[in-house]
Amino acid sequence: GDVSGRTAFITGGANGIGLGIARALVRAGANVVIADIREDALAQAKADLAADGQVETVQLDVTDRAGFARAADAAEARFGKIHILVGNAGVGVMGPVLDARFDDWDWGMGVNLGGVINGLVTILPRIKAHGEGGQIVTTSSQSALIPIGYSAIYTAAKAAVLGISEAIRGELAAENIGVSAFMPGPVQSNIAHSGELRPAEYREDSGYRQREEELEKRPVSPLWMSADEVGERVLAGIRANDLYILTHPEFAGGMRTRFDAILASFPDETINQDRAKEIGFLLGN
Ligand code: NAI
Repeated sequence: GDVSGRTAFITGGANGIGLGIARALVRAGANVVIADIREDALAQAKADLAADGQVETVQLDVTDRAGFARAADAAEARFGKIHILVGNAGVGVMGPVLDARFDDWDWGMGVNLGGVINGLVTILPRIKAHGEGGQIVTTSSQSALIPIGYSAIYTAAKAAVLGISEAIRGELAAENIGVSAFMPGPVQSNIAHSGELRPAEYREDSGYRQREEELEKRPVSPLWMSADEVGERVLAGIRANDLYILTHPEFAGGMRTRFDAILASFPDETINQDRAKEIGFLLGN
């Protein structure tokens, strides 16, 4: 649907992909609330987008549930209603599974999956209540479909986010709320600096700290897509209520191989019609 005059609440919108989405939405006439943990980046983002339209910023750690409700209150105080939730905040918790410690799992899952869940629980009822409909956009990742190397924690969260998005799509259609899962490939962003955001309570029992510090020195490849380009992709996906928003066709071959391997794993191809009916029921048909 049209985004003009609607209000979008974007988590992790002060940098990278979230900022690209914010820019595309603001230029399309939406009111945008950027919620992010980085105070300095929020001020910068606001200054950056102010000339393009209506922007508000609010400091939020997406793992803080009470803080999420306060941020949603602030968004409603400014713009009246929230229509579009973009659950985008995320951190690049990467490393060999054999080095992963509980602090790595807890922090990675807490932000990348828990942050999306907190957004849904906080904001979905508010969208339903105003009755004007809306859109849920989750930033999953291409890695939800083709896991990249050393990504057990990251992939766990991103695959869960994709699964949630697919699972709620049918239910929310009845409320005129669309759902889109955004699965970008490599995009130019600040994600290599995620380690700076790791809270003190997740630094003690971590096997990834050294890796995170090394990652910060790595330059962003010019071959990676720009955040503004993917922001435009997301805007188009919202307008069309696309369930899947993808960016990099370079992954298509790998996806095909994966799905073919999964399909080839059924014991045989004989379909039991009675069982098929029951499965249709389980699928909500
Ligand atoms: P980024 O680091 O540039 O932006 C992420 C933003 O989220 C930052 O502004 C950061 O301050 C914020 N954030 C982190 N933890 C937070 C928390 N607890 N509460 C609130 N805000 C928090 O990184 P990027 O790449 O733009 O990441 C955005 C999303 O895109 C993430 O979910 C990431 O996993 C996903 N993604 C990124 C890809 C890439 O190649 N850059 C590829 C696929 C997915």
